[in-house]
Amino acid sequence: MPGPYGGPYVDRMTEIAGTELPPSRPAGAWPRIFARAYDPSLWLGELAGMRRLRNDLLRDALGRVVEIGAGTGLNVEHYPDGISELVLVEPDAAMRRQLATRVQRRAPRAHIVDASAEHLPLPDASVDTVVSTLVLCTVDEPDRALREIARVLRPDGRLMFIEHVRASSAFLAACQDRLLAPWRLFAGGCRCNRQTVELMRACGFEVTADSVAWRCMPPIVRPLMVGRATPPSP
Ligand SMILES: C[S@@+](CC[C@H](N)C(=O)[O-])C[C@H]1O[C@@H](n2cnc3c(N)ncnc32)[C@H](O)[C@@H]1O
Repeated sequence: MPGPYGGPYVDRMTEIAGTELPPSRPAGAWPRIFARAYDPSLWLGELAGMRRLRNDLLRDALGRVVEIGAGTGLNVEHYPDGISELVLVEPDAAMRRQLATRVQRRAPRAHIVDASAEHLPLPDASVDTVVSTLVLCTVDEPDRALREIARVLRPDGRLMFIEHVRASSAFLAACQDRLLAPWRLFAGGCRCNRQTVELMRACGFEVTADSVAWRCMPPIVRPLMVGRATPPSP
């Protein structure tokens, strides 16, 4: 019988093969180093406010929750006890190892699934809440990922997100453009100048979001949008 964080359809999902990372991503040892360095490099930003932003957003998560790009699992401790199921989708093997360690300690009933946001191994209209924090900057085909999110969400479901975005200041946006290539190599494929909220709206989502700063982090990733989005009608 499914209990908190456990549910009937996840067994099918765990059978799905993982999605290969595209060749534009750094290869060799870097993904492993990046995964290990991820929490320490975010530590100050988490203390300076990101942890609170995660908590404020995720305490409203409901029902079956699917988090895309769960990374090392920094969100796991913020989900309310009342959710019925937690599925953590993460395509990177090194990140999944860190995630597994955290999940074991903090959310042993959660399920970790090796998949990408562009190909969610979930039935249509089967999810109440999709969570994306610092992920839509990194996915290779964000429009496809957003269509997948819309597909799996129930009509009254929600996408909850914290994403860093293209700066509104022309100077900072120019810096993001200039530093895009090296930053992308360094930061696991992250496009620091992506207009993620505009993309959500272009994909038909209705978005409510606030603009805040990711304090104590490099200026090119400082502009954050925190919000919720409802999917377009099917
Ligand atoms: C910057 S990390 C964010 C991790 C976590 N969500 C957080 O808030 O700390 C981006 C994550 O997205 C994952 N990712 C990259 N491409 C993805 C894709 N196409 N679909 C889902 N996740 C992806 C990466 O492996 C990485 O774990």
